[in-house]
Amino acid sequence: MDKRIIIENYSVQNSITYENDTNKNFLYGQATKEFVKKIKLNNKDNVIADIGCGTGFVFELITKKYQKNNINFYGIDPAKGMLKIAKKKIKDKRVKFIDGTFEKINLKNNTIDKVISTLALHWVASIDKSIKELKRILKNNGSIDILMIEKNDGKNFKKIVFKVMKKFLTNKQIFNAAKLINRITKNEIKKKFEKYFNLESNYKLSIKIKKKIIYGNCDDHLKWWSARSQQVISEIKNKKLFINNLRKELNKFKTKKGIPFDLSLLEIRLTKK
Ligand SMILES: C[S@@+](CC[C@H](N)C(=O)[O-])C[C@H]1O[C@@H](n2cnc3c(N)ncnc32)[C@H](O)[C@@H]1O
Repeated sequence: MDKRIIIENYSVQNSITYENDTNKNFLYGQATKEFVKKIKLNNKDNVIADIGCGTGFVFELITKKYQKNNINFYGIDPAKGMLKIAKKKIKDKRVKFIDGTFEKINLKNNTIDKVISTLALHWVASIDKSIKELKRILKNNGSIDILMIEKNDGKNFKKIVFKVMKKFLTNKQIFNAAKLINRITKNEIKKKFEKYFNLESNYKLSIKIKKKIIYGNCDDHLKWWSARSQQVISEIKNKKLFINNLRKELNKFKTKKGIPFDLSLLEIRLTKK
């Protein structure tokens, strides 16, 4: 599976629409804000890395709260288009943005006090390699806060998307598109962390599944979707027609509260015992 399409799309297509207010405040954006609000930096947290930082959303939310001069924030992302926006937007001198992936983080061994990552880990080519890299860069007494999608995220909503995709793509193309995203259960991700972090004696791991039905109108859904998921339709030639078809299909599922999305996220927190 060639995952380069994810990074290319984030760099070019998604970055154009990522900063829209709906994407920042609705559904995944809203969940990110709630997750980041719960992150606490303590006095020893002086070097923070956000992996898959995109346009710097986490830093927008966190840097004002922590004004200490001696904190260094590193934002890592492989999508140049996303980083370009981040660099333009975040003026805080303590923040540096670096090109890199979860699987190859351009930071030295044992240098990071806290790793933060929001809604990026499910896009990687290898979750194993990514966690191995986290272990490498993290200081022995460091901590990790990751938000990522859980296996069943948007299961019902995506049935509608795939139904429309069927009109434009072959089954094989749809299968490949679905494979772009890592859909992982709580137990599976726990096992992967256990491989690299000693949970018996050194680290405490908490993984929570956060489920919620989020209602929105058709435009709301199309806005977050075009900011985050256009890679799944990269093989569709007539994208405009696809979106029109998707709009019609989504509207069929409209309830009094709006069109539902069945959110299911994993909140992963690793701390030193
Ligand atoms: C949904 S965005 C999240 C961005 C940001 N964390 C936020 O919450 O707004 C997903 C990000 O993951 C990045 N990404 C894709 N593949 C990646 C990889 N292998 N390693 C690290 N980041 C990756 C994308 O470029 C994109 O910026």
